[in-house]
Amino acid sequence: MRVLITRKLPDAGIKLLEDAGLAITQYSEKRELPQEELIELCQSQDALLSSGPNVIDEHFLSHNRYLKGIALMSVGYDKVDLQAATNCRIPVSNTPDVLTKTTADTAFLLMLAVSRNAFYQSQSIQRGQWGFYEPTANLGQELYGKTLGIFGMGRIGSDLARKCRSYFGMDIIYHNRSRKVEVEQELSAIYVSFDDLLAKSDVLTVHAELSEQTKGLFNANAFRKMKPSSIFINTSRGGLHQENDLIEALSKKEIWGAGLDVTNPEPMSPQNPLLTMPNVYVLPHIGSATVETRDQMAIVAAKNIMAAMKDEKMPQILNPEVYRSNK
Ligand code: DGY
Repeated sequence: MRVLITRKLPDAGIKLLEDAGLAITQYSEKRELPQEELIELCQSQDALLSSGPNVIDEHFLSHNRYLKGIALMSVGYDKVDLQAATNCRIPVSNTPDVLTKTTADTAFLLMLAVSRNAFYQSQSIQRGQWGFYEPTANLGQELYGKTLGIFGMGRIGSDLARKCRSYFGMDIIYHNRSRKVEVEQELSAIYVSFDDLLAKSDVLTVHAELSEQTKGLFNANAFRKMKPSSIFINTSRGGLHQENDLIEALSKKEIWGAGLDVTNPEPMSPQNPLLTMPNVYVLPHIGSATVETRDQMAIVAAKNIMAAMKDEKMPQILNPEVYRSNK
């Protein structure tokens, strides 16, 4: 059986697939795999292990309806039309859990770096601006005892809340599709309306899926409702915030700073004004990028492929309805 992998995969995942006797094709060119090429390459395959922003839509699926499974090497699945995959009876899986702590760490890193202007200060040395000591210069803000607002209290949001509560003693407020009673009990977290989240957060951090409901939600109107001293963090998907509105909100000092691991579009242009703003820290979508986590993600994705090849339920199935119909 044949598997197409859209990027060079960590060896841990490759070994599993090879030991299972699967024939692997890895796309190794140093560019994104064009959609039409992906469609064509998949036609000679039994399964797809998709790493990166490959679009799995109706068009793709109509040309590849005989795939036995699609394993994403990501927790996000906003590029996949799950309903269309279900209609074609193709199981799709993702890689939750194994990247939770690492991605929450990235949000923590951004919060701290932005609050202390760390990146800008570091670059000021290169700019030859490390002058004399001034007690009122280069001042950041502390996070101790401040309010952390979480938009999307899933695994990553909860892990970050836990870290910030124990390290900075932060008060936790959150907005989510549904109440999370266990997190409220564990962290004294308080469920608030979206408007209250905007108005009360000292740090507002985004951990929700990109969907029709969340697309562009953090726009000029939202930033205007935030505190002038607040910090906006996004490590989920760039599509949740309006980049031009964010630039304007920062320029007008409607908010104090921003930390982004995700942008819209990706990659971000090197000319983007956010990159030269003092209180902004942008990372190139490295939320889960550690050796340990990427190994685990590759292993999880490989195990999902192996299950699909044996006509068994994928352990991290996203569309379990496929197993309810006759395949
Ligand atoms: C994820 O796992 O969703 C990461 O953002 C990589 O796309």
